[in-house]
Amino acid sequence: MSWGLKNRVERIMKGGRTVMLAVDHGYFQGPTTGLENPRKTLTPLIPYADSLMLTRGVLRTSVDANQDIPIVLRVSGGTSILKELSDEVVTTSIEEAVRLNASAVAVSVFVGSEHEKETLANLAELVNEGERYGIPVLAVTAVGREMARDARYLGLACRIAAELGASIVKTYYCADFRRVVDGCPVPVVIAGGKKLPERDALQLAHDAVAEGASGVDMGRNIFQSADPVSIIKAVRGVVHEGKSADEAYAAFSGSRPPAQ
Ligand code: R5P
Repeated sequence: MSWGLKNRVERIMKGGRTVMLAVDHGYFQGPTTGLENPRKTLTPLIPYADSLMLTRGVLRTSVDANQDIPIVLRVSGGTSILKELSDEVVTTSIEEAVRLNASAVAVSVFVGSEHEKETLANLAELVNEGERYGIPVLAVTAVGREMARDARYLGLACRIAAELGASIVKTYYCADFRRVVDGCPVPVVIAGGKKLPERDALQLAHDAVAEGASGVDMGRNIFQSADPVSIIKAVRGVVHEGKSADEAYAAFSGSRPPAQ
């Protein structure tokens, strides 16, 4: 593994832990609630995120080039919620990722779905290309509607992604999550999933980290919160400061302006 690739991973995984802010949802679901105006949503959150996960379109239009934040560039897509989601291609080249000064590229794999093979080939191809330039690949274990989000399935998907050379794997929290992490030889981060009450989102982050996750790559539970800045700060408390969900929720509640 080249020094450059290791250095890029370290920039994202601050001391082995990370709070990644996922704002790439528009690449298949359009103007997602809370992300209708990406610049407006992102600007106040950037100081509290360890990296931003987004497409080149949102990077170019909605993030100022003087921002000193690692970019995890979403480079798979080509589908929408109106069609078969697993039918993805690589949309953005490694050379473009280098030009955009990305710290990593992100690609979805759909293990068990119709286009499993093509999405795993997308991952393998990006790892091969990334090795040439020292760009790490984050694999997202996307879960088809027909799949169970359990430790057996997610463990299978994460391990395959790591075996194909992903440097970081993003997956979902599940019962017996430790088994997923133990079977995956690279760092695992969790997606937040659908919006939850803030206390539950903090519990999710806490439980994932307690069971071996290196952190979160969280989107809707941050940008759809009534108070996105306070919730991302609270998530940082859990991931970076070892706070319990209760402690982090107290900080979240305490930092909110009183209701009018
Ligand atoms: C989905 O494939 C996207 O990559 C999202 O970034 C991911 O689902 C994480 O966002 P959320 O925390 O909203 O689930």
